[in-house]
Amino acid sequence: MDKIKALKNKAIEAVKGAPSLGALKVVESRILGRNGELTEVLRALKNLSEKERKEQGELANKIKIELVDLIKTRRNELEKIESEKDLKAERLDVSHPGVKPPQGHIHPLSLIIKEAGEIFNRLGFTVVEGPEIETEWYNFDALNIPEDHPAREMWDTFWLKEPKGKSKLLLRTHTSPMQIRYLETHNPPLRIVVPGRCFRYEATDASHDTHFYQLEGLMVDKNTSAANFKAVIQTFLSKILKRKVEVRLRPSFFPFTEPSFEVDVTCVQCGGKGGNCSVCSGTGWLEMMGAGMVHPGVFKNAGLNPKEWQGFAFGMGLDRIAMIRYKIPDIRLFYSGDVRFINQF
Ligand code: FA5
Repeated sequence: MDKIKALKNKAIEAVKGAPSLGALKVVESRILGRNGELTEVLRALKNLSEKERKEQGELANKIKIELVDLIKTRRNELEKIESEKDLKAERLDVSHPGVKPPQGHIHPLSLIIKEAGEIFNRLGFTVVEGPEIETEWYNFDALNIPEDHPAREMWDTFWLKEPKGKSKLLLRTHTSPMQIRYLETHNPPLRIVVPGRCFRYEATDASHDTHFYQLEGLMVDKNTSAANFKAVIQTFLSKILKRKVEVRLRPSFFPFTEPSFEVDVTCVQCGGKGGNCSVCSGTGWLEMMGAGMVHPGVFKNAGLNPKEWQGFAFGMGLDRIAMIRYKIPDIRLFYSGDVRFINQF
């Protein structure tokens, strides 16, 4: 009898002290399981005398009922505790500051291309794009640059394996081929700008790369003049460089414009004063682009009558604009793929 009572006390203590549902299950099986301590006692009753069997049997069954009850109570308690713990772990604090997801950045050249397009839109120009892989005809011949022309050396590029019997293919050296392509398929009067990637086979330095971006401009009408060009380009440069700038046209040469000019803008650093300004090397001017009045041969190559139409064209380096605008010292940073650079925009 004492043994049964001791077992009872030990069992009550174990059930009450079970720290988790898992631990309670172990205790339950140790006492009431198939080979449990109390089960063994009940099983051994058959070996006792009738009197003992009656006494001990009654007691053991009473204890079993008590223990089953006690285990049930403890299980309910533990279930409550554990579900509260789960809830606590899951609770959402709506006042907690959120975690900012990492955000991408727009490349400075993309920013400039977008802004340049918007400014020209307001000036009545349409933004169009052309192929980066060009034919020899559009990149050179149609622009008055035949095979033996020295300008071909200035614009050396990457040639591609051409399909048999087809015209030679290359990576375009400038966006000017789009002058011809657009004039072939659209009737003047017209105004377009063409942003896009260009390629040249040349050594790289802080202001030159083997690929870069240009923005071509073309305006054709009956009386479009160089004065119109100067007004348009001065307005554009003042807007994109975010300051009032003066523009200067210097005589130059391009096979597809006549007359041709280089376009300079007052230095954004010294405002045109020069002196010992490092940005313009003391000249007070920054070279921005090549330009000119569309050559009659270009109109002819596009199937238009040069006596009927006239206009201006220009081609500016967008990398140059972005470098000035964002004070970037080396063009190669644009193409380095370094996120520390991109993350600043
Ligand atoms: C041209 O490419 C002419 N197609 C421009 C033009 C268009 C003239 C229409 C007349 C009428 P040029 O080779 O100078 O010209 O290039 C124009 C601009 O492209 C340069 O002023 C420069 O800003 C940029 N550029 C040229 N080569 C590179 C290079 N390797 N890396 C970065 N920018 C370059």
